[in-house]
Amino acid sequence: MNNQALNQFAYHSKLANGYDVNCVGPIIKAARVFNALHGITGVLLFDGERFFQYVEGESATINALAERIHRDPRHQHVTALLHEPLHTGRRYPHWSMAFSSVDEDAIIDQMIASTPHEAVALLLDRHLTLDID
Ligand SMILES: Cc1cc2nc3c(=O)[nH]c(=O)nc-3n(C[C@H](O)[C@H](O)[C@H](O)COP(=O)(O)O)c2cc1C
Repeated sequence: MNNQALNQFAYHSKLANGYDVNCVGPIIKAARVFNALHGITGVLLFDGERFFQYVEGESATINALAERIHRDPRHQHVTALLHEPLHTGRRYPHWSMAFSSVDEDAIIDQMIASTPHEAVALLLDRHLTLDID
């Protein structure tokens, strides 16, 4: 794949009122199917209340996914941190959507307090030590 055609998108959000942790499993399951079919890779963190997600893939595919994610009623306050071309190649070539439940961990706080590029670098640094499946 031509790396110049890749886009990256990262955001944080909150579980919407009226939804609970039971909606997370179906989100991941459906995301993995769609992402695998459409060449999207990335990571989703969830701390029981907040999401942090990083996705990468072909530009038009990522832009369309970012729009659907913004509209998804299962979360609110979707705050985009990074939405731009990815020139360096994929960060997560092997993960159609790695997931980690991080309720014991302040990583989402750290990421929100960082600059967007630092947050994505922090995620990458940590992803091997997180309980990702
Ligand atoms: C936190 C969160 C992360 C999501 N991640 C993905 C994803 O990586 N890939 C994906 O296809 N859908 C993902 N979704 C689901 C999309 O928001 C959306 O429901 C899905 O693309 C179907 O869109 P549609 O119902 O408009 O067709 C995510 C939803 C949430 C709430």
